[in-house]
Amino acid sequence: MKRAFDHLLLTCWILLVTHPAFSCFRPFFIAKKSTKSLPQEYRLRGLLESGPLLQQQRSALLVSMLPTDSGAEEGSDKPSSSRLIQPHQDRSSPAYRQLMAHLGARIRQGSLVSFPTETVYGLGANALDEQAVLKIFAMKRRPLTDPLICHVGGLSGEGGALALLDVGDREREVVERLAATFWPGPLSIIGKARGIVPPEVTAGTGFVAVRCPNSSLALDLISASDRPIAAPSANLFGAISPTTAQHVLKNFPQEDLVILDGGSCHVGIESTVIKLEMGEREGEDWDDRICINRRGRVSKEMIEECLRQAGAEMASIRVYVSPKIDYGRGSASEDVARAPPSASEAQESPGMLLSHYAPSVPTYLISVATTDTSSGTGIDIHPQEESPALPPPSKCVLIDMGSRMRDLRGEFAAYFDLCEAAEHTASDESAFLEEAMRSLFATLHEAEAAAVERGCGLICVGVADDASDMGEPALALYDRLYRAASGRRLHLYRSGAAGWRLRRQTAE
Ligand SMILES: *[C@@H]1O[C@H](CO)[C@@H](O)[C@H](O)[C@H]1NC(C)=O
Repeated sequence: MKRAFDHLLLTCWILLVTHPAFSCFRPFFIAKKSTKSLPQEYRLRGLLESGPLLQQQRSALLVSMLPTDSGAEEGSDKPSSSRLIQPHQDRSSPAYRQLMAHLGARIRQGSLVSFPTETVYGLGANALDEQAVLKIFAMKRRPLTDPLICHVGGLSGEGGALALLDVGDREREVVERLAATFWPGPLSIIGKARGIVPPEVTAGTGFVAVRCPNSSLALDLISASDRPIAAPSANLFGAISPTTAQHVLKNFPQEDLVILDGGSCHVGIESTVIKLEMGEREGEDWDDRICINRRGRVSKEMIEECLRQAGAEMASIRVYVSPKIDYGRGSASEDVARAPPSASEAQESPGMLLSHYAPSVPTYLISVATTDTSSGTGIDIHPQEESPALPPPSKCVLIDMGSRMRDLRGEFAAYFDLCEAAEHTASDESAFLEEAMRSLFATLHEAEAAAVERGCGLICVGVADDASDMGEPALALYDRLYRAASGRRLHLYRSGAAGWRLRRQTAE
């Protein structure tokens, strides 16, 4: 009964805001500044702030604001095209400074600039300007339930991290400690947001993620704009992340966008995202925790080591991986039980959804089956999905990791290797992983292009069958591959005279 009433209430709200007959009421619900250039869906967002919405209503509204594919672009009467700019090599040259001053002004005026960081290319806007931030969501076709990371020049100062975070003394100490160790670098820290941070940036959660990127172009842009810059990866929502300026241009060829070309990103996967969970004092101890919401280059062990070095009190903070992202390590049936967050709920952190970083061609994790039983009743991880017949390997692209499946490359239409093992010894595992991370997204882009060009129906990614014995750094890489494949796995097996075949993974 209550649900029905809530639903009715919500319908009335939406009608009030969208129906022409009620247009005279609209100014009350819509942000004061002109929103003409934004898609209609985003104008609804005035509702988010217009009173104590129930969580359920808020979720429904956020979903209703998802951009639709069919929606004709408003303002497309004046087609623009994105511009790629190569900055002068010498950072002290007048040309370089002029360019930065120009781009800084562009950010302040509410326009978008794509810029390189050490992790991936970002699609940046003034984090304190709601209208500018909404342009990011519109351009990326990103649901408003996915929060953005604010890029800052450092901890203190007007545009610094502490101007955005509403933290108590203890949290502040931890933030300072982590920033001193990992910034500038690939660690994003989530804390309670101050009032100046617009709800679009926090996905209405009241928490904001901040990070100081280790890239001189990014830092110069932040400094020239004199604003924190909210920036998700510069690609369409859910697609493969961009690690070159050309990847960004491919995603957004015709937008009002300037892309700052800084070559390839050297870390290559997105930052680690952590959330501070400082608890109450319990007797002598504090119940303090740090939750890893997205795996990245900065591992759990590195964070623990940093805290340990800061003395006994900080060493007692427990660092753990959010159960929401810690799936994909066991058997298929366990994965089903641990359902990932859905896109219609407000997310605590970007990068938590199951299907992410995904090529446009269906992608699967594969492993080589040791047995030869092709008659097993395959269970699919996604039983609700239509399962089309699997093509032969000669109609698939293979992505290998460390040349483990090199012998099989002749069976596939195209072969890529994230990292050639021959160059590395076992003791060199971290160098191996770093190279694989660096080349991950570029390789996915190449594999996607090869698959389209050769009419291949599948991209197969050869990874270990079970991630439970992987070390923490390898898990960040595995996390991206798992999401690129939306958690789907296949077995490659040899079927007598028919040669190599693919089949769905069977239950244990
Ligand atoms: C920052 O980037 C430079 C190269 O641009 C690199 O040498 C350095 O190790 C990086 N620092 C961190 C903390 O990753």
